Amino acid sequence: MKDASLIAIPGGFFSQSVKSIGGELTVPGDKSISHRALLLSSISEGHSNLRGFLDSDDCLATMNALQSMGVDITLESTDVRIVGVGSKGLIAPIEPLDLGNSGTAMRLLAGMLSAQSFASVLTGDESLMIRPMKRVTEPLVQMGAFIETVEGLPPLSIQGGQSLRGIDYALPVASAQVKSALLIAGLWANGRTTVRSPGPSRDHTERMLTTMGVNVLIGSGQDISLDGPAVLTSRDQVIPGDFSSAAFFIVAGLLAAPEGLLIRNVGVNPTRTGLLTILKEMGGSIDILNRREFGAEPVADLFVRKSKLKGIKVNPNLVPLAIDEFPVLFVAAAYADGFTTVTGAQELRYKESDRLHVMCEGLQELGVEAQETVDGIIITGGSLRGGCVDSHGDHRVAMSFAVAGVASQDIIQVKRTDEVSTSFPNFLSIANSIGLAIEPYVATEYSKG
Ligand code: S3P
Repeated sequence: MKDASLIAIPGGFFSQSVKSIGGELTVPGDKSISHRALLLSSISEGHSNLRGFLDSDDCLATMNALQSMGVDITLESTDVRIVGVGSKGLIAPIEPLDLGNSGTAMRLLAGMLSAQSFASVLTGDESLMIRPMKRVTEPLVQMGAFIETVEGLPPLSIQGGQSLRGIDYALPVASAQVKSALLIAGLWANGRTTVRSPGPSRDHTERMLTTMGVNVLIGSGQDISLDGPAVLTSRDQVIPGDFSSAAFFIVAGLLAAPEGLLIRNVGVNPTRTGLLTILKEMGGSIDILNRREFGAEPVADLFVRKSKLKGIKVNPNLVPLAIDEFPVLFVAAAYADGFTTVTGAQELRYKESDRLHVMCEGLQELGVEAQETVDGIIITGGSLRGGCVDSHGDHRVAMSFAVAGVASQDIIQVKRTDEVSTSFPNFLSIANSIGLAIEPYVATEYSKG
């Protein structure tokens, strides 16, 4: 047991400016696709081999949950072998499933577990326990699931043993997690499940289900349907590099790579690459090279060169297509000439932290004029002074401020960076290999007395 008189100081980063960065790098596997590949392969008929799996804390939480429901999964480096148990083969977990920091794991598993014959409880860390779950439990209950929350928050207690029916559901906000949860539940439901979205969101679930033999119907606009019950056929997959991880180096390259920076094997699914459109409009030099496919997913190499950026009004239609990239986009905006205005991005308040608030606060600490609005931010670009910022335990905020140090006048200290391992365990070594100067300091504990 821990000594109550000890105070823990979480680890952090010191990021120092450098003259230039350059060379080439490969980012680890896509987080969203890694979660989905684990989940869907586990309930498929047959064996699957995954290559390029992201062995981050979030994906390992999904893997552990599936293992505790009887799925035989072996992980060796970034290769995974899964023995699918089919649609009726999961067994009751003995303990609550702890999904750590991962909203994707919790929401997608909520869909899957609503349809099982057994009861389950989904829980997580401090940050996950305050993330809204009603958006997923409400439609699942309409499908016939029995789920209890604590006033819309985790833990989720799923009774199981209900037979689900397909519903026609209009999402109030575009959300790939909710869409995916409903489609996954729909695999066990009787009849057609249709999810209608007010705008696009990442479509990895639809693509993967199609390759696994499910007849996914894409309607006009953003309507997706499938007919249940449906059976999945296992499929080997190569997982592309995560565009959201590449985003940190895209921005770093635009700020500090005069000779260019090559980022290889990046997933460029158009439902993920809104940041490219935004940064190009800001004047960023980004070439998309060597386009190819990894199974159902498009992949390319990205060549980025230092560019003079200008502030813009970000098209709100691009928000869902760049939803995880806003923290690092705000850093690019802080270095750009003039104002950058973001609207229609209220969803950023419900991520691993309230990203509008936390980024605004951090940028102000670094001497940037930034103003938070109800659904966005206004940033007056120029230069960054240096200083100390708190990531609030949000991995993407931590990595964004680390990248911000590449051209700041003084050192940037980023506090609470341990959660970087939820999505990008080798961020530091890759960052430093292309010339960034980011030094970690480790978590310590000292006595109060
Ligand atoms: C994800 C969807 C997005 C994104 C999250 C991962 C997914 O959230 O922010 O990091 O894998 O489905 P929304 O469901 O809110 O779109």
